[in-house]
Amino acid sequence: MNQPVMEGLRLNVPAYVKHQRLIAWVAEVAALTQAKDVYWCDGSEEEYDRLCAQLVAAGTFKKLNPALRPNSYLACSDPSDVARVEDRTYICSAKKEDAGPTNNWMDPAEMRTLLQTGDKALFKGAMAGRTLYVVPFSMGPIGSPIAHIGIELSDSPYVAVNMRTMTRMGRAVLDVLGQDGTFVPCVHTVGAPLQAGQADVKWPCNQTKYIVHFPETREIWSYGSGYGGNALLGKKCFALRIASTMGRADSQGPSGSPGWLAEHMLILGVTSPAGKKYHFAAAFPSACGKTNFSMLIPPAAFDGWKVTTIGDDIAWIKPGTDGRLYAINPEAGYFGVAPGTNTLTNFNCMASLNQNVIFTNVGLTDDGDVWWEGMTDTPPAHLIDWQGKDWTPAIAKETGAKAAHPNARFTVSAINNPALDADWDNPAGVPIDAFIFGGRRSTTVPLVTEARDWVEGVYMAATMGSETTAAAAGQQGVVRRDPFAMLPFMGYNMSDYFQHWLDMGKKLQALCATSGAKLPAIYCVNWFRKGADGKFVWPGYGENMRVLKWMLDRVEGTGQGEEHAFGVTPRYQDINWQGLNFSQEQFNITTHIDKAAWAVEMGLHEELFAQLAYHLPAELPATKAKIEARLAAE
Ligand code: OXD
Ligand code: MN
Repeated sequence: MNQPVMEGLRLNVPAYVKHQRLIAWVAEVAALTQAKDVYWCDGSEEEYDRLCAQLVAAGTFKKLNPALRPNSYLACSDPSDVARVEDRTYICSAKKEDAGPTNNWMDPAEMRTLLQTGDKALFKGAMAGRTLYVVPFSMGPIGSPIAHIGIELSDSPYVAVNMRTMTRMGRAVLDVLGQDGTFVPCVHTVGAPLQAGQADVKWPCNQTKYIVHFPETREIWSYGSGYGGNALLGKKCFALRIASTMGRADSQGPSGSPGWLAEHMLILGVTSPAGKKYHFAAAFPSACGKTNFSMLIPPAAFDGWKVTTIGDDIAWIKPGTDGRLYAINPEAGYFGVAPGTNTLTNFNCMASLNQNVIFTNVGLTDDGDVWWEGMTDTPPAHLIDWQGKDWTPAIAKETGAKAAHPNARFTVSAINNPALDADWDNPAGVPIDAFIFGGRRSTTVPLVTEARDWVEGVYMAATMGSETTAAAAGQQGVVRRDPFAMLPFMGYNMSDYFQHWLDMGKKLQALCATSGAKLPAIYCVNWFRKGADGKFVWPGYGENMRVLKWMLDRVEGTGQGEEHAFGVTPRYQDINWQGLNFSQEQFNITTHIDKAAWAVEMGLHEELFAQLAYHLPAELPATKAKIEARLAAE
């Protein structure tokens, strides 16, 4: 065994690790953080079971009743550590303007002093008393030309086991990395060093949090949180913030490559009764139903139609030489929102959760199973809520206490999903026929609108607004602009990103002109419009198939619709209503374009463009002017 010793610390490097730069970096981080031990994850099932048992012994995990939920665990976090912390998330590019006005920025040298080199640097000694887990992972199928490798060094075994489900993790990744492969270095600490003899807590974390990206050196440093996107660094930090930067950088080299896209998008397949297959990529902000949409079951009237899941959260999208866009899901599991999920809203998801699941911040029933708001109509008579307190329906009524935190999650492997697409793991990806952008808007935005061309679609996506949810810490339910559903996940200047989309459109158009392929259509949807009674008008879930079918008809050139100021929307008669009692009046509420509301909306677009003025592509204000002229003329 290769056993370098650093300041008395054994690095425990397995013989199969041949990458000297990796070993040196692990040694460096172990010395900086003063980790008590180093453990290299091999990704085996035996290791997963062992680490889970260790988490049970530490009190972080509760093993659920194996008769009800085999091989599954519940973790309850510190109540201060329940969501992504956007105000503590930084893009430390060399130039502030490259991070852009939508990101927190700090000078990289200053940030490095704060985290790594200053007298009181946060990472200095941060892992004292803890094991440093080396977590090698691949985003995308191991060895695929589209995939990229990351190595996360974390002092959280909870992170190590979650990463095994969420990514392709372990020894096989190091085998591909070989002696000199490239990887994105990701360092994570919960920021809770242990003194000799000090007892640990169930969920160590720190009130101070930093989620930091250095785009030029493609590094991630995360301090103080053990939760979700703050800590599982392959997901938002790598697969979106760093990867978005990589995709654009590829378009700026001498090769003339159009580059690629890293998007906050689900990917789904739709197969017609005749066996024709289509693929959609759809962007929605966090906790707006991406997982549900990616697993939807078409209503009975759509006999013979099938929807299958390629991904539920992130898409890496690369142009082929034919001008089509090919998408892969870089993840291998789902980190989905539990509350509201049930057999009616998402049957496939509930079936995925039958076994081999890690639940975080849901309620624990008296028979050792889990429960969350919306899981069943009748709640259990008693349970222990996510904060460890007794919970009954009467207590909930009196105090408003929730059994599960609204951002409670499950971590489960994609292979548990009965609707998994046969191509979900295909290294070549799947060709995208249409993009969908959707926000959560109780008013203003119609059920579905088709962009007339690529630029109009980019405008729609760039100006998207959505009501905030519990997925991020902060106020909920306020409308904020969330361009492309990427606001919290952009690794560079938002206006440069708009430009990247526009440039890509032009390059694809040129390739398509030669190959005869078509650019993906672009749609904007809103499932969340409310009526005068404050209730959602559109039934959503499986019924969204009706909207998907209209889009497919449009893609095929057979669907009809009505043009208006900012696109094309179906009329009542253009949608298949078989098997659903949805009146023309209800439909009108979901599609109505209120001129006064749109005047306010256009003012908000103006505010966004003022905020993003630096490098804002001229096509966007020009499209806005056209929409305004049409609105005025209507
Ligand atoms: C997620 C999110 O966890 O978007 O996917 O917050
Ligand atoms: Mn997400």
